[in-house]
Amino acid sequence: MADDDHWDADLFRREGHRMVDWIADYLDGGARQMPVLAQVEPGEIAGQLPTAMPEKAEDPEAVWQDFQNIILPGVTHWNHPGFMAYFGITGSGPGILGDLMSSALNVNGMLWRTCPSCTELELSVLDWLRDGIGLPREFFGFLCDTASVSSMLSLAAAREAADPEIRRRGLAGRADLQPFRVYASDQAHSSIAKACVTLGLGLDGFRGIAHDADYRMDVAALEAAITEDRANGIRPLAVVATVGTTSTTSVDPVAAIGEVCRRQHLWFHVDAAYAGSAALCPEHRWIFAGAEHVDSLVFNPHKWLFTPFDASALYTRHPEIFRRAFSLVPEYLTTPVTGRVVDLMDYGVQLGRRFRALKLWWVMRCFGAEGIRERLRHHIAMAGGFAAWIDANPRFERVAPTPFSVVCFRAVPSAIGDPAAVDELNMELMERVNASGEIYLSHTRLDTGIALRVAIGNLGTTEDDVDRCRDLLEKELTCLCRR
Ligand SMILES: Cc1ncc(COP(=O)(O)O)c(C=O)c1O
Repeated sequence: MADDDHWDADLFRREGHRMVDWIADYLDGGARQMPVLAQVEPGEIAGQLPTAMPEKAEDPEAVWQDFQNIILPGVTHWNHPGFMAYFGITGSGPGILGDLMSSALNVNGMLWRTCPSCTELELSVLDWLRDGIGLPREFFGFLCDTASVSSMLSLAAAREAADPEIRRRGLAGRADLQPFRVYASDQAHSSIAKACVTLGLGLDGFRGIAHDADYRMDVAALEAAITEDRANGIRPLAVVATVGTTSTTSVDPVAAIGEVCRRQHLWFHVDAAYAGSAALCPEHRWIFAGAEHVDSLVFNPHKWLFTPFDASALYTRHPEIFRRAFSLVPEYLTTPVTGRVVDLMDYGVQLGRRFRALKLWWVMRCFGAEGIRERLRHHIAMAGGFAAWIDANPRFERVAPTPFSVVCFRAVPSAIGDPAAVDELNMELMERVNASGEIYLSHTRLDTGIALRVAIGNLGTTEDDVDRCRDLLEKELTCLCRR
């Protein structure tokens, strides 16, 4: 054996114990000792790394030291209780352990036979989730990496449903085809327009629909756009409703949009990447009212279901259309049970498949539906408390409704009237809070201008963290106004 073949069980155990101990401390307050937003300059991490891989095996101790000294300073800690940017997320203890077991088994669940448990657990936990969020039982679910891919696959299925010839002949040079169009609100995530690009519809194949005063899709404008497009020789293909938009977490009216899709014979996709988890609580199940009209729907357990990145749940009531769009089976992938079992490679682009369901299963079993609901409600309550503080504070204003755990607000110092200056001040305020290393916020642009966002979704976040965020905002705003 080469002398670098030293990864025996004892060494694995020793290094593994050290890492598990570190993770336990990290989850138990260790993350707080580090700045939530990496305080490094571009190139600072790469500049400390060798330019080629080591020729000889290195001592694991040296690797561990470099992880501590080089890698960690360049990590923005998404698993930090002060992470309130974008969408707060949690890689929870049970999820991390489930992921560890997935790496240990290292299965590829491309076919049922290449790991029956991978396929069957995935289908089972997605059934649990489907029932948990109150979707109709005919929905079939499987896991993708991200919502971007889930939505892209759904729109590919919509295209297949609209014209099965495209699978064989493609779109290029087809004078016989009218240009397709997909509709979503102008608050929809950019992944929807990107899916149009990927699927050959082009950016012109995407039409953003105006929103109402609460950032929800204007359904009358949707129907008018569809009618106008048809009159102009464009072929409407699908509508995407967003349940929990990226900026404000607004909820498009699913039932009313579904009615339009039914009347207009269009595929109806719902992007609930963030807010879908909320439907595990009965009081939030209204968000999917009208789901009987939905053809496909995505939500991300890696966003607000305490599952380590990545895991995106894609549901459809037409699995056979996904199979028509994507199944292509070379001889080497046939098995004695082909056609009698679900081979998940048939439902999307990828062949290989991680055992993602394992971490989700571990989370659901170790927290239970009740425990998950409690944690979601706690996040929503903390966001409600922060929103109430904003509402009561004359130096700030809330700029959108707060249906879940994200609060959009801005500072409105009375001395500044110019909208551009208010935007600038808010960006500066955010950067000053972020420079503290204690709290990390992100921003967006709304009808009122730049808005800051407090997004609560980490299991370690407490009322004290939210208070600290308030204190930092107050203190930094006072400093800015004094200049
Ligand atoms: C509504 C919505 N859809 C899709 C996405 C993209 O998610 P992913 O990173 O899983 O592709 C996001 C990301 O925040 C989102 O907010």
